[in-house]
Amino acid sequence: MKSLQLNNGVTMPCIALGSWVGTDPKELARTSPWLLTALEAGYRHIDTAALYGTEGAVGEAIRQSGIPRKDLYITTKLPFHHTKRVRESLDKSLKRTGLDYFDLYLVHWPQVVVYKNNNPIPLNADGSMMLDETSDFNDTWKEMEKVLASGKVKSIGVCNFSIKTLERLLKTAKVTPAVLQIELHPYLAQNELLQWCKDKGIAVVAYAATGYAVVREDPIIVALAKKYNVTPTQIILSWHIGRGTGLVVKSENVSRQEENLKVIELHEEDARRVDALDKNRRLCILPDKQGKVFGWTFDRLGWQERVLQTEAKL
Ligand SMILES: NC(=O)c1ccc[n+]([C@@H]2O[C@H](COP(=O)([O-])OP(=O)(O)OC[C@H]3O[C@@H](n4cnc5c(N)ncnc54)[C@H](OP(=O)(O)O)[C@@H]3O)[C@@H](O)[C@H]2O)c1
Repeated sequence: MKSLQLNNGVTMPCIALGSWVGTDPKELARTSPWLLTALEAGYRHIDTAALYGTEGAVGEAIRQSGIPRKDLYITTKLPFHHTKRVRESLDKSLKRTGLDYFDLYLVHWPQVVVYKNNNPIPLNADGSMMLDETSDFNDTWKEMEKVLASGKVKSIGVCNFSIKTLERLLKTAKVTPAVLQIELHPYLAQNELLQWCKDKGIAVVAYAATGYAVVREDPIIVALAKKYNVTPTQIILSWHIGRGTGLVVKSENVSRQEENLKVIELHEEDARRVDALDKNRRLCILPDKQGKVFGWTFDRLGWQERVLQTEAKL
């Protein structure tokens, strides 16, 4: 499997299996078996998060697979209401998975949220997110650097940051994030952010990498799939790999898990045709009625405000 060399010399498999399944307890309870089929199909990188509720299932699938720990790359994420208790939160994630280290530990969101009864989404009376403005992600990062030094995580990084928030992070960071995980697909190509990260030596990993049905059904993607005799998803995932990013893709279905591992090389002119589909359109994380994402405006997130479509079909 293709891999990326991170800025600390660590090698990360480019394709990760996603493990977010929503909050339905029935879905969560049946996660471990399809994580196991993915490991059997050849995935060696699994992406989870404390907020997903799937860390235990990841640990279970790893144990059942019998694959040596050193051959696996496991990513998890620090939730935004745990930013003042990083070490404790990490220890709980390790306990849930039964692992003694993570390969990559990511700050899930730049927001700092009040810790209240361990509720990840505590709300004020007016329904807004209960943010903790007494601390910021620069403080969180200092704690991330400490857990990196402890050896319990091999690399640290962030998710959902932008040039604006990363610039602020780097003002106080001693360790440059190894990875930035963001929403990224042909309708949201993030060209400027990718170039910025390349210049700083930060590897980019795409989530919602398929762009869902709306991108799969795009006539250009469909035409390229016919031309190369592959599926639309394989065109999209191949485009990511050709751009030098990693990606997270979630599938519960064995044949789609196998399909998603088979990337091809696109000819230069075909990669440019996919590039041209960029609409700066988010499909995964959309703002609420107040135009905010977990309490922050697009401006505060440093996300470019433009077309905000809600027609995403999974
Ligand atoms: N850091 C963050 O804030 C963040 C945010 C969102 C997601 N993530 C991570 O990224 C992962 C992936 O994100 P995502 O699930 O939103 O997007 P995705 O992987 O692009 O899309 C998953 C959906 O596509 C379907 N699918 C997968 N492969 C397919 C194929 N070859 N053909 C047709 N349909 C296919 C899956 O259905 P089946 O399962 O039925 O195949 C599922 O409904 C998550 O699981 C999570 O680990 C991170």
